[in-house]
Amino acid sequence: MSDAQRKILVTSALPYVNGSPHMGHLVEYIQTDIWVRFQKLRGHDCIYVCASDAHGTPIMLKARELGITPEELTAGYSAEFVNDFADFGIEFDNFHTTHSPENEAIVRQMYAALRERGDIYTRSIEQSYDEKEGMFLPDRFVRGTCPRCKSEDQRGDACEVCGAAYAPEDLIDPVSVLSGTTPVKRESEHYFFKLGNYEETLRTWMQESALDKNVAAKLEEWFDAGLQDWDISRDAPYFGFRIPDTEDKYFYVWLDAPVGYMASFKHLCDRTDGLEFDDYWKPDSEAEVYHFIGKDIMYFHTLFWPAVLKGAGFRQPTSVYAHGFLTVDGQKMSKSRGTFIKARTYLDNLNPEFLRYYYAAKLGPTIEDIDLNLEDFVARVNSDLVGKLVNIASRCAGFINKRFGGELAGELADAELFAEFAAASESIAGHYEAREYSKAMRLIMALADKANRYIDEHKPWVMAKDEDQQADVQLVCTQGINMFRSLMVYLSPVIPVVAENARAFLNESGWQWQDASTPLLGKALPKFKPLLTRVEATQVERMVEQSKESTPVADSQAEKQDDEFISIDDFMKVDLRIARIEKAEPVEGADKLLALTLDLGDDKREVFAGIKAAYDPETLVGRHVIVVANLAPRKMRFGVSEGMVLAAGPGGEDIFLLSPDDGAKPGMRVK
Ligand code: 2FM
Ligand code: ZN
Repeated sequence: MSDAQRKILVTSALPYVNGSPHMGHLVEYIQTDIWVRFQKLRGHDCIYVCASDAHGTPIMLKARELGITPEELTAGYSAEFVNDFADFGIEFDNFHTTHSPENEAIVRQMYAALRERGDIYTRSIEQSYDEKEGMFLPDRFVRGTCPRCKSEDQRGDACEVCGAAYAPEDLIDPVSVLSGTTPVKRESEHYFFKLGNYEETLRTWMQESALDKNVAAKLEEWFDAGLQDWDISRDAPYFGFRIPDTEDKYFYVWLDAPVGYMASFKHLCDRTDGLEFDDYWKPDSEAEVYHFIGKDIMYFHTLFWPAVLKGAGFRQPTSVYAHGFLTVDGQKMSKSRGTFIKARTYLDNLNPEFLRYYYAAKLGPTIEDIDLNLEDFVARVNSDLVGKLVNIASRCAGFINKRFGGELAGELADAELFAEFAAASESIAGHYEAREYSKAMRLIMALADKANRYIDEHKPWVMAKDEDQQADVQLVCTQGINMFRSLMVYLSPVIPVVAENARAFLNESGWQWQDASTPLLGKALPKFKPLLTRVEATQVERMVEQSKESTPVADSQAEKQDDEFISIDDFMKVDLRIARIEKAEPVEGADKLLALTLDLGDDKREVFAGIKAAYDPETLVGRHVIVVANLAPRKMRFGVSEGMVLAAGPGGEDIFLLSPDDGAKPGMRVK
């Protein structure tokens, strides 16, 4: 171990427990678990806690729909998360719930402290209210016609067709998705947290917390936009904690969710001798605290959470590590394609360590999305884990078992080569520490190639036939097994079960990181059992088939993938083309739309564009514009729109069509 023992507390985002865990969830929990196992292997005191995120409107409504209590609903799904995660080798030191007395006590303590400091105030706001259901409606529970492009059945906060952002009150013909009735506007008093009071504190925290540069850039953007006060209350009926001194106000789920990190840790402290809550959470604590999260919840973790902690007199996180989303075969997970794969469906078909390895081979420290390409998954697992890694041991172990009574030679045949494996220790550790897992995997697999080359060159199977070369066979195989052993130590955070079986074969009681640097010599080994078998494409196909049948998961990370970031791959999917406007006409019955006939070279399109206030249709004929050519056709009230022309500006008269320079011809692809 190269540094002194650190005290580290690690969390993964608390999953909403109103659906089953799926492959998208697993990115984060596997990423975190690898990091935690690595820290433990390095000899650090590292604790990994998590909990179910049990509060909020969607959970309350789902329970109501099923005719059970929210407690019953969340207990059921929590158990599913706990079991599935355990089967993927994700080893929490504690898994609790936000609906716990520990959480409520800390939430109350924090709220009292924030009030005391003058960070909380109340203000009346107007919101959509469903009179039939007797409840205020969160934005996503109102749908209606987009006020901008007039597309029907759009969400209450933003239009999926034209991207406009608005309040549910702005929708045309709004409808409550709960009762189908028209919501009314109603006033209610809400509690706000003055986030603006914390700008300086947050800027300092941001400097100190070594955030990924994209996360820091996002924070800068938020600072530039100005920090808005945060509405931390919700009206009854709500499943959550009631705000003290109120009858019918509850803390918004996002206020108590991150407190759940502390509450889970507190729950662990209460059951563990010598583990003190304050040692980790008091302001001057020397312990490190890291939150692993998805990029969609950065705002909560890099603004609200550090501000609330500071205000309530606790330490702030050492850092927040955000990752990207998962795509499967380059696309958002899809129920119809069978790529919305539940954790349990994967487990029914495939070895969990394969997925751990595959994710590790893809993961870096940034918020870039990662892709699970199913064909590549099969190829990579077979080539790296089975073909390269385990092969080293299977090529050598048989000779040691059969010819030398299982005994390893007393020395290394090539100490210099082994020293190379030992020398890689700190680079590999550095990559793990920095969450550069893909780099760590590449280094490890390059060493595995080296080990295989060594065996290829020395050909123990040839030497074995020569009576005079028996000692060399033992030496070469001992060398091979030692190289394998070092690699298994390095990989043990990623594939703990394979590593455990390898360790049992090597007859060792436990591994620490530095064991990779000292060879195992002169030791008797038990009989070698195959560590892994190849994965077959048919196993993956079966899993995909089974996923086509399974029910979708509500309110999950996968459904939030239309977030603010897209990857370059996503961007490349947009087919932007030059088009010539052949015809432009007003649309009867639509105040804002023009119907455009576009010439795309080898193709003609009808497109509706909300540019009527800004352009006289006649002036548009002959003009070249840029069009999104592969947008799925959209049925609108007036016909089908087969693309979208690009324009900039707030709308109304201030909307400006984007045009290419002279020379661009219809059909040309925009690069
Ligand atoms: O986005 C989500 O799935 C939330 N349940 C994450 C909460 S993380 C923490 F703050 F509790
Ligand atoms: Zn719209």
